[in-house]
Amino acid sequence: MGSKLKPKLIRYLKGTIPEPLLGFLPRGYAKIGHVMIVNIPEILKNYEVEIAEILLKMGAFSGIKTVAKKAGRTKGIYRMPQIKVLAGEKQTETLHRENDTMFKLDPARITFSPGNHNERKRMIDIANNYETIVDLFACVGNLSLPIAVHKNVIIYAIEKNPEAYKYLLENIKINKLENRVIPLFGDNRDVTPKNVADRVIMGYLYPTIDQLEIGIKALKNIKGGWIHFHIAKPLNKLKEPETLVKKVSNKLEYDVCYIKKLRVKHYAPSIEHLVLDVNLKPRTTI
Ligand SMILES: C[S@@+](CC[C@H](N)C(=O)[O-])C[C@H]1O[C@@H](n2cnc3c(N)ncnc32)[C@H](O)[C@@H]1O
Repeated sequence: MGSKLKPKLIRYLKGTIPEPLLGFLPRGYAKIGHVMIVNIPEILKNYEVEIAEILLKMGAFSGIKTVAKKAGRTKGIYRMPQIKVLAGEKQTETLHRENDTMFKLDPARITFSPGNHNERKRMIDIANNYETIVDLFACVGNLSLPIAVHKNVIIYAIEKNPEAYKYLLENIKINKLENRVIPLFGDNRDVTPKNVADRVIMGYLYPTIDQLEIGIKALKNIKGGWIHFHIAKPLNKLKEPETLVKKVSNKLEYDVCYIKKLRVKHYAPSIEHLVLDVNLKPRTTI
């Protein structure tokens, strides 16, 4: 349905929706398991159910049973989405398959951003066998479970939201990763292990400086390793992220050997989701 969605919708809805509004029909959608999520602009509010019913018919062949719209900004520390079901099954808990990994989750209550798809794939590609990885913001295992499916790694997956943690536990089982993924429930400020990791994933757009310190302290203190530090720019209140990472690393006596900023996705008007790949080595004093 992808890029051809809008012309198809226009064809189906001509005559139902006034001509001047047809240009506002959605161009794309996200599919998480059986749930399709679309952005329907306010100007089409009176026609949203008709639009959703057509989308349901169009999506039936690819397993779509529910059509929902984004009903507001993702909220709070748990990053709870705002979604309204418009057509089809009301049940939004689903099984989503991506990169050979099964994710059970409820996209009406848990963030699983389709825009992070390439980042989830990138993490699989750059992680090495036999690494220990700490995922400081694991959610249902979004960024770290696919790595464990593809590579022989040990993962500490930390999550504070009880609902996301429940799905994380289920997803570890569904993907048969009980021997290699260690779930830790709680605030990463309290439960993150120290001196264990070759790689630390910080997949939360509003990290604090103390969390960056915790991420660095999770690295093996003889060898160092990699940090993948996500931020929303310029929304994030932290200073220039590279400067900040260098400053905090320096304070903890690590040298930054490599630092590169990548764009993950467009996040909101004038706001980008970025990730910094940082390689850190403990400072040697002779
Ligand atoms: C937006 S989700 C991101 C999930 C995943 N890392 C990704 O990038 O797709 C962030 C997750 O971090 C969790 N979280 C936020 N603050 C936390 C903290 N202090 N300790 C542990 N988990 C936290 C939230 O509950 C949420 O599930």
